Amino acid sequence: METEELFEQVNLQTLEDWKYLLLISKFGIDEIETKLEIINDEYIFLHDYNPIEHISTRIKTPENIVKKLTRMGLEPTAENAHRYLSDIGGVRVTCSLIEDIYTLSKLLQNQSDLKVLKMKDYVKNPKPNGYRSYHMILEVPVFLTDKVLPVKVEVQIRTIAMDLWASLEHKIYYKTDLQIPLSLKARLKHAADEMASIDQELCEIKSEIKKYV
Ligand code: GTP
Ligand code: MG
Repeated sequence: METEELFEQVNLQTLEDWKYLLLISKFGIDEIETKLEIINDEYIFLHDYNPIEHISTRIKTPENIVKKLTRMGLEPTAENAHRYLSDIGGVRVTCSLIEDIYTLSKLLQNQSDLKVLKMKDYVKNPKPNGYRSYHMILEVPVFLTDKVLPVKVEVQIRTIAMDLWASLEHKIYYKTDLQIPLSLKARLKHAADEMASIDQELCEIKSEIKKYV
């Protein structure tokens, strides 16, 4: 479906609702990003070590929100988006080591104002194509002028190696209908496994080095 066609279904009077949806998604992202920055900064203070290398955020475009709701057989309204989608706001965290992923996951789970709605561990259980990452759907309370609104945010935590692979794979063909020969899929999977063995090796090196500290 073309974008214009999609948006003909959206009543222009609801534009304010859509603006508000994107705004509260941004607030949700801001809350999670601040929490992660606090965790990282305190961790540096306490342990002289940063579990986070980089944080990036994104808000799903209205076009993609409408497409996803339509795919799910739902009316493309801002209210449905808020209610049924959990990845309008996304936060991606990259770490140096696999163990950092679990440190961050645990520290987020321990925060009493956060509700963990879903966790998917594609690090321990990679997808058949080789994709590795740790996904959490978190619900964070956002304090607005007249109410407290729970906002869902998708957090993806991965190592730099996993991120490199996922970015390349995404650029190559994720979610497109390209017919890729099996041999190329196998090479992509092989590349993911190679990355994973480097991640593993780095963890081992780090714990060996600890013995000398
Ligand atoms: P959607 O794909 O967003 O509908 O979510 P889902 O319910 O299938 O959740 P999942 O946790 O599997 O994927 C969520 C997000 O992770 C995706 O939107 C991508 O950003 C990322 N992701 C999942 N699988 C892959 C993959 O095979 N390759 C890449 N590059 N990214 C992936
Ligand atoms: Mg998604």
